[in-house]
Amino acid sequence: MKVLVTGGAGYIGSHTCVELLNAGYKIIVVDNLSNSKLVALERVKEITGKELEFYNVDLLDKVALYQVFSNHRIDAVIHFAGLKAVGESVSIPLKYYHNNITGTLNLCEVMQAFGVNRMVFSSSATVYGLQEDVPFSEEIPLQTTNPYGRTKLMVEEILRDLYVSNQNWSIALLRYFNPVGAHPSGYIGEDPSGIPNNLLPFITQVAVGKLSELKVFGNDYDTHDGTGVRDYIHVVDLAIGHIRALENVLNTAGVKAYNLGTGTGYSVLDMINAFEKVTGIAIPYQIVDRRPGDIGTSYANPTKANKELKWVAHKGIEEMCKDAWRWQSYNPNGFDTKVKHKALK
Ligand code: NAD
Ligand code: UFG
Repeated sequence: MKVLVTGGAGYIGSHTCVELLNAGYKIIVVDNLSNSKLVALERVKEITGKELEFYNVDLLDKVALYQVFSNHRIDAVIHFAGLKAVGESVSIPLKYYHNNITGTLNLCEVMQAFGVNRMVFSSSATVYGLQEDVPFSEEIPLQTTNPYGRTKLMVEEILRDLYVSNQNWSIALLRYFNPVGAHPSGYIGEDPSGIPNNLLPFITQVAVGKLSELKVFGNDYDTHDGTGVRDYIHVVDLAIGHIRALENVLNTAGVKAYNLGTGTGYSVLDMINAFEKVTGIAIPYQIVDRRPGDIGTSYANPTKANKELKWVAHKGIEEMCKDAWRWQSYNPNGFDTKVKHKALK
């Protein structure tokens, strides 16, 4: 079984490549390396002891994409490739719409030309927008507040239209909550460029001494300690969710949305405390104003994925923090770090 993984050199893609190879799939990665490094895929091969094929191809280059499909008999596609920074999407919306939507249109057209109609798509909990009531289940009305979120919502709708036009398509729309952590080997992990936007990479960079203190965005939310509550999910659990979704799309037809989250929310202070507990490192922080656009509480109702995909997230926040820290401490400069790894030896 051959699976094409777009964006497979990225954070979630590389972890999913590990699980795909471990599960016995052959994989072909297409990535333009706009937000990732090739060394991530070298490390995927080291972790698994297996090979994969890589094409440095941009989804906006339809001719090159067509060539990849000509070279291989592809059974299904897992589509991660996209730009993902919410703030940046507000500044350069056209780039986001072009990359995330035109890229997906090109992919679907080439898939259609080669009769490939099984897809797992990276959507996001961002399609739920500013909801009042938690947990979020797949049926609540969707809304988004920024161009990035709109690209996810638009692609979901495009994929639904594709299925209406031809019921041979089978597509899973995976709505991720807050992916964190790293592979337990410490070999691959999240490598944000510049100052991290997300909480856990910020905490690990404070811990490793790259940043001086964390700014906690608001302590006046209606939550148990006033700080924002999120559904953090270990990236390995998330990657395994893709294997379950792939099995589902290979054996059924339709378009189905699934929340991939744990169903439990933790606050910013809970995350700081868990990180300090497992690492013994103090994280200096300061409470500042709320970040514009943030909501107080977001967590998933993951029942549909639990039942239909037979998937459940197993790893708790201490494991998330421990694995995020192992990755950061072995690789203080992310994939640019030239160190001899203790991991896997
Ligand atoms: P990432 O940036 O690490 O990975 C995305 C990969 O896609 C990168 O390797 C990048 O080089 C590649 N890419 C981007 N545009 C491309 C193009 N036009 N052609 C070829 N390759 C291209 O991001 P990630 O965190 O691994 O996220 C993967 C997917 O999951 C994205 O679609 C993202 O929007 C979605 N998602 C991420 C999160 C999160 O918090 N990380 C949450 C919800 C959804
Ligand atoms: N936070 C801080 N300080 C920081 C960073 C974050 O206090 O330096 C807080 C935020 O206010 C929030 C929590 O930590 O309460 C989590 O913030 P993240 O930025 O890690 O995650 P978000 O939930 O804000 O955003 C994530 C993804 C987005 C996606 C959004 C909605 O990063 O891509 O979920 O699904 F759009």
